Parts: sequence; C-alpha cells; structure tokens
Amino acid sequence: MCGIVAYVGPKDAAPILLEGLQRLEYRGYDSAGVVVSNRGLKMRKVKGRVADLAAVVPARFKGTLGIGHTRWATHGAPSDVNAHPHLSADERIAVVHNGIIENADELRAKLEADGAVFLSETDTEVLAHLIARTVEDAESLAEAVRAALKRVVGTYGVAVIDAQRPGEVVVARNGSPIVLGIGEKEMFAASDVAALVRYTRQVVHLEDGELAVLKADGFNTFSSDARETAKEPLTVDWEAGHYDTGGYEHYLLKEISEQPETVARTLRGRLDDRFHIAHLGGLNMDARESRSFRRVKIIGCGSAYYSGQIGAQLIEELARIPSDAEPASEFRYRSPVVEPDTLYVAISQSGETYDTLAAVQELKRKGGRVLGIVNTVGSAIAREVDGGVYLHAGPEVSVASTKAFTSTAVAFALLALHLGRVRDLSPADGRRVVQGLRALPGQIEEILTLEPRIKELAGKYADSPSMMFVGRVRGYPVAREGAQKLKEVSYVHAEAYPASELKHGPLALIGPEMPTVAIVPDDELLDKNLTTLGEIRARGGRVLMVGHREADPRLADDCLVVPRNEIELDPILLSIPLQLFAYHAAVALGRDVDKPRNLAKSVTVE
Ligand code: F6R
Repeated sequence: MCGIVAYVGPKDAAPILLEGLQRLEYRGYDSAGVVVSNRGLKMRKVKGRVADLAAVVPARFKGTLGIGHTRWATHGAPSDVNAHPHLSADERIAVVHNGIIENADELRAKLEADGAVFLSETDTEVLAHLIARTVEDAESLAEAVRAALKRVVGTYGVAVIDAQRPGEVVVARNGSPIVLGIGEKEMFAASDVAALVRYTRQVVHLEDGELAVLKADGFNTFSSDARETAKEPLTVDWEAGHYDTGGYEHYLLKEISEQPETVARTLRGRLDDRFHIAHLGGLNMDARESRSFRRVKIIGCGSAYYSGQIGAQLIEELARIPSDAEPASEFRYRSPVVEPDTLYVAISQSGETYDTLAAVQELKRKGGRVLGIVNTVGSAIAREVDGGVYLHAGPEVSVASTKAFTSTAVAFALLALHLGRVRDLSPADGRRVVQGLRALPGQIEEILTLEPRIKELAGKYADSPSMMFVGRVRGYPVAREGAQKLKEVSYVHAEAYPASELKHGPLALIGPEMPTVAIVPDDELLDKNLTTLGEIRARGGRVLMVGHREADPRLADDCLVVPRNEIELDPILLSIPLQLFAYHAAVALGRDVDKPRNLAKSVTVE
C-alpha cells in the first residue's frame, strides 16, 4: 500500500526511481511522484499511473539522489497536489510516506497556528513541516527526522531528503516496510525488494522503530533512541525476470499459469516417501511439541483467510485437531483468548499485511505459539513468528492473489500431514496424501488446458449483474475464493454461500438473472449438492457446475470437469478454473485486470 523508492549514488536517480516505482505500482496506483536533489529540489508529481509520471519528467531532470512514491490514497482524494513527495514551505525538505499518521489533524492545527501553510490534504505534509522546523539546528537530517517522528502517532515507512545535504537519504520504518538495497558505491531503499532486484540482491530489512542513513558509500542504522544497530545483509533469490509478464498479456494470467511450477516448488524437498511424512524444518518444533496442541487457529485476510479455511479443514480431517480460520482483521480487535495448547498459524503472501502482523504481535504479547505461512522471505510477519513454512511461489505481482492462494493450501496440506503423522494418521493414509500432493502439478497442467472452454463460459456469464457461488464443507472456501476473485477483477457482484444455507434465505435471490457457480466434488456430499442444484434450477436459476463429472443437463446448464485427487486435496484443484473464470470475465468486460480499481496489494494500513 503505497510504494517508496530512494536512491543515492553516482548515477542519475530519476530513471532508477521511475523503474522502481513501476515495480511497486501494485502497492498503489492513483498518483505518483519523484523528487531529485541537484542544487535545490526538483519535483514532478501527477494524479495517475507511473507511466503518466514518466511522461512529465523532462529529459534534463538530473540529480544523483532522489526519492519517489506511488500512492494508494488514505487522506485526501487522488490528485496532483495530494500526490507525494511533499515539500516543506521553503522547499528544503522532501518526504514520501507509506502508512497513516493518526494525529495528523492535531499536528496540522498546531503548525497552522504557528504560521505553516499547507498545500495538500494529506497526513504526510505535516512531516515535511515538522522536519523543516528543526533541521536548521539539528546536527544531522537523521536527528531532525527522529525528532519529527517522535511527535507522530501512527504507522509509517518514510524517506526524506534535505536540499542542503545532497549526499544522503534518511529512511525510517514503523509498521510499513522499508528494505535497504546495497549496491557498488550506491544505496537504494524501497517498500519491497521488487524495486531493488534489478540493481542488487543484497538487502537489509529495517525493523519497526529503526531509522537508516544512506550515503553512496554505505549505510548506518539506528534504533528509535539513536543507538547504532548492527544489521546483516540478506541475499534475496528473486530475480528481476520474475517481475516481468513473461510474454503473457497480464500478470494475473501469468501467475495462474505458473501454478504447476509454483505448487511443485512449495512441495520440493518436503515429501518423504519412506515414512509418508512431510519435512518442515522451519516449524522449529519437535514431534513431542507437534503432538501437544489441542486446537489450531488460523488467521489471515481476504484470500489468505479463505486458503486458511481450506487449511483448517485439512488439519481437522488429517490430524483430527479442532481447527478454524478467522479474518486476522477481526481477530486482532476482539481481545482473543490465547491458550497455551493452541497452535496459531498466520498466513500472508506479502508478509506485510498490517492487520495480520498486528494480530501476530497481539498473539506474541500474550505468549501464543505462532507459525507463519508466508511467501516473502524476510518480511515482517516472517520475522515475527516462531517458525513456519515459506511458499517459494516467487513474487506475486497481480493484485489478485492466485498462485499464493494455491501454494498456501498446499503448505497447509503439508502441515496437516505432519501434524497427522505425529498423531493418528496411518502410514497408508499418509502415503495416499503424499501421492495426492505429488500428483497436483500435473493435474493443474491438465486444468489449464481447459482455458479456451473457461473463456467461452466467462464470456457467457460475464454480463450477469450478480452471481452466486456455492459449495459444501470442503467446497465452501473454494466458492468464497471464486466469488472474491470474480468481484475484485471483474467488478461483477458475487455472493458466496454454503450450499446447505441456500434454502435458509439466499434462495430468494435466485432467478434467471442470477446464475450460480456450484462447486460439486465427487465426495460423500455429492447427492446433497445435486439436490441443491435441483432446487436452483426449479427456481429458474442457471447453473455452472465445477466438479468431477459431467452433470445431468437437468441440473446444470454448463459443466467444468477437473481431475480428481484425494478428497481432502480436491479444493486446491477446484479453485483453479474459478481463477481463470474471473480472469476471462474481467478481460471480457475490459477491466484493468492486474490493478483493479480501489485496491492495492500489500495492505499495510489498518
Ligand atoms: C485477493 C487478495 C487479498 C489478499 C489479502 C492478504 O485476491 O489478494 O485478499 O489475499 O489482502 O494479503 P497477504 O496474503 O499479502 O497478507
């Protein structure tokens, strides 16, 4: 949510900043801006995309130090004026900010009473004014930034430059990510390694409360009380090529199509055919500890939460431990009872979702044992948890999550297998699950060959004003995720219900104008699901069935048949046609597939 890039070194900063912003555009895309320092500050900022910004940055926009920003509005509508960077009145200080300053109104009123004139409606502009007031007398820019941040309540990742100190950038983090990139006689900083990997793979993640001073020849980091901190650089294994569309028209289609490989990567080295177990070294738990939990509580937001529902089902079925999933955004606010015999599992693709991070921190404060299922190595949630499973799905760029969703479900299958095999899951059932997991990548390949048919169906249903998604038990999270994908990328209204609940109310909505996508696996609930289809058809509803066999034409208008796996693992495969359905519906409706309106990836605000 909002992307920050900073550069100091021997090269021209503007092209590096613009390229970095392009990579971060998934974090926010309503406005963008850059400022460089070259005998004073030169700034350009516009409402719109990074491409619109690039179009107004002149060729002679020289300066070897600068900061840039791509915005997802919180305070003030998207506009040229509200776009970042924000300057102090004397144009000496420039600031870009990701996060929310909660006491901005109060600070603004005080500054205005003292003569400050504000140009924008943003919370960020107060920072530029506050820093400018102390920078003259401060020993360093870092000292002035630290003094300003002490007055701020809220979250921030910030980057600041001072026209009178043209050799340094100061960055600081509290709740919104900042990663430093270490180059050859040059330094970078960004909200995400995506903006850095083209230039360096050596990175340092700032912790909350830390501040860093970047100069061309290196960096220093400090705690909130100005003590120098020692940081070991990490080497990231994601490459610049991972962030390209790879010949696909959209990142979303690329990421859907990558799933045979990404699922294989999540499984790699983790399946044991001898004992039919999963090797998950990152859990940091021995068998005795793994046996000690009496409950599993899973938290995550949005699609991560829905994959957690699949996870809860897998753990309950395979390990017979009572398990449930809850939105992290709700969990953190309801003062949850934290019990020593409960295993908590936090899910996050980005590892930076603020609601999930705050829930993890609340759990840790109360002594909870928390595992993370995270895609981004070294991210805030990955660093906060006691252990976990990395997805190894590679960077997910499209705002709508797809490959991280399936890899998370696969990671849960591994966790369920592990917890099951230290309990009562038999070797025979263990073997069945291991074989099922090994079959997934090939079966996903098969599902991807259905794309032309799915495209045709998406075209047929895309002009519906609203769609219903239903599934029972294992199929219900699949239906929820299917509805979520359709809503977010095509803007078609979609409801998801347990098929069993339809007759308790929502059946009133069903008619020819509201088609239903029904998830109908060949499991012990098949007959119940077919009865539901009959009830929908009897009310004039159209049905697209996604399941394991061709449907009776009296029960479904259309049918998508996917390969069968073990019943516990089928939800993973059943989710994939729904991703393609949402993608093609969005394309048919001419939507901005990778950057849907109003959204951003990596929601680092509350
Ligand atoms: C939906 C989507 C979101 C994310 C959610 C959590 O397609 O992408 O619902 O799943 O914002 O994000 P992470 O997994 O980064 O914590």
